[in-house]
Amino acid sequence: MERTQVGIVGAGPAGLLLSHLLALRGIESVLVENRSREYCEARQRAGLLEQGTVNLLRAVGLGTRMDAEGLRHGGIYLQFAGERHHLDFTELTGGRSVTIWAQTEIVKDLIKSRLAAAANINFEVSDTQVTDLDSDRPVLSYTDRNGGRHEVSCDVIAGCDGFHGICRASMPPGLLSVAERGYPYSWLGILASVEPSTDELIYSRHEDGFALHSMRGPRVSRLYLQVPAEENIADWSDDRIWAGLQRRFALPGWDLKEGPIAEKAISPMRSFVASPMRYRRLFLAGDAAHIVPPTGAKGLNLAIADVSVLARALIAWLGHGNRGQADAYSDTCLRRIWRATHFSWWMTSMLHTEPGNDRFAAELQLSQLRYVTSSRAAATTLAENYTGYFQDELGVE
Ligand code: FAD
Ligand code: PHB
Repeated sequence: MERTQVGIVGAGPAGLLLSHLLALRGIESVLVENRSREYCEARQRAGLLEQGTVNLLRAVGLGTRMDAEGLRHGGIYLQFAGERHHLDFTELTGGRSVTIWAQTEIVKDLIKSRLAAAANINFEVSDTQVTDLDSDRPVLSYTDRNGGRHEVSCDVIAGCDGFHGICRASMPPGLLSVAERGYPYSWLGILASVEPSTDELIYSRHEDGFALHSMRGPRVSRLYLQVPAEENIADWSDDRIWAGLQRRFALPGWDLKEGPIAEKAISPMRSFVASPMRYRRLFLAGDAAHIVPPTGAKGLNLAIADVSVLARALIAWLGHGNRGQADAYSDTCLRRIWRATHFSWWMTSMLHTEPGNDRFAAELQLSQLRYVTSSRAAATTLAENYTGYFQDELGVE
């Protein structure tokens, strides 16, 4: 039987950052991931970081490329009823901003830094299991890429294995309570090799459905289109996608630049929160415990915030014998998660059209959009949530 302090399942942003934060305080970990390094580094996902997330990454030595290549944004545009309005977050929140820096880049930097530190990271494993959860020495087992079976005795196991991972399902039956919402639509996301047509993100509500203009750099645009829930990507030719985007962003005197589409995929939308996020020495973090629809840009930020809280709790417990923060972990995280869950649901319902929506629903959306773009109080509510309401909790000790 091998031995480590913290067994970590999953090399997404949550698992990798946890292993990095623990190592900074001398806590050792073994990390297992069932995909290849290349797959983890290429998987297109989130791109928008709250101010607190940026500060945390910088504080733990992961800020160099982010500061050089990331794009600092002081606000967003909200578009509806043929008008485009700017919300100035920096002015509304007393100086906060957000940063466009892709999850793929964070993952690349983390993997490079962990491997340079000779961390124990195992890609392409199979048959991951977490057992002996009732004992003081839970066991993480896996088969490595060469077929060798490993059993690692751990002080603690961190389930950072995403929504479809095995850790949540390994909690004792009846422990978890789940609160969830499905939405009757998905997002079709594209990565296009074309200069962004906007300086800051545009969230657009349109009778045809929602659209979002984001970006990844000076020559790469990231755009999303609301599509029906069960849509097939094969039915969406590049021409059909651009035509949909052109209609939903149309504004006199403004042009949406088109370019070659490098990638396209459809992601379902869901809100999901499982609690508690801990059973004895098994802790869940990130998508393993909760999912938000992407309209609030919270998924990645929540995952990073969870492991920041978890790392501090484990350093106090395993390093100094103080369990208080570990005992508070689930409640501490869930306060932030529910704020982000409400915000993401609210942004989603304000901006998407639902099949069968009547005039009443449409007028409510438009009234709410007019309110957040005209009332300073309402705009501040959006701004402080978008830039990160609980950001002061993040940090290294
Ligand atoms: P993940 O990134 O999912 O990492 C979990 C890791 O665990 C994966 O590498 C997985 O391969 C591994 N794993 C799973 N099971 C096992 C096992 N049994 N053994 C070993 N390893 C295992 N958020 C936004 O804010 N904006 C977006 O535009 C956006 N787009 C998204 C698109 C998609 C398709 C998805 C799925 C998510 C998107 N998100 C978005 C959400 C955001 O990317 C996630 O919140 C974030 O990736 C969470 O990080 P994580 O580390 O918790 O989980
Ligand atoms: C992205 O850039 O991928 C992105 C940005 C903001 C969102 C969702 C996705 O709300």
